[in-house]
Amino acid sequence: MKKIISPSILSADFMNLESEIEAVKKAGADWIHIDVMDGHFVPNISIGVPVVKSIRKKTNLFLDTHLMIENPEKYIEAFAKAGSDLITFHYEACSEKVDEVINLIKSFNKKVGISIKPNTNASVLLPYLDKIDLVLIMTVEPGFGGQEFIHDCAMKIPYIKENATESLIIQVDGGINNLTAKICTSLGANSLVAGSYIYNSNDYQKAIESLM
Ligand code: DX5
Ligand code: ZN
Repeated sequence: MKKIISPSILSADFMNLESEIEAVKKAGADWIHIDVMDGHFVPNISIGVPVVKSIRKKTNLFLDTHLMIENPEKYIEAFAKAGSDLITFHYEACSEKVDEVINLIKSFNKKVGISIKPNTNASVLLPYLDKIDLVLIMTVEPGFGGQEFIHDCAMKIPYIKENATESLIIQVDGGINNLTAKICTSLGANSLVAGSYIYNSNDYQKAIESLM
């Protein structure tokens, strides 16, 4: 499977989002990663539904929406209708109703992802692997861009790979650069999220190519 590079706009210039998205598209990005934070599930607030809606009007790139929010089931419909293509929610935010949230996302014909934080054991995902499109393994504590990659988290990648079918997308997010990307892809990751590494570089194309 070709590696899917999903630049996180969390590190983009929000005053110039349209050109920042166009620029990574031109530079070879496959998806756009949109980090949604509610100030409860994570100690930070970022962007929400209206921004996704505006982005959708301006790009045909696949919108990879990472919900770092509590009660994700309350907001799935809004993100689906705003134009997200994939909706990833956190296992920790709704561990008692994971099936319900998966089915809700599917009811809007959207792809489904589940994410786990660094301290969550990957085995919690086993019952859901054949029902979803993507697993997102966080390699930093969610909430902020620009943090350092936590190496121990990468060992969840081969575990998920061994237990999943070929078609499952295994995505990593947090502290991804040219070196940590290699570690993750050699362990079986096939989608890489990178925010600060791409958007803080002065050559987006070179940065994206160095992740492949
Ligand atoms: C962190 C977000 C990430 C973040 C990654 O909570 O989920 O997507 O933007 O940023 P970098 O690539 O800078 O670690
Ligand atoms: Zn993210």
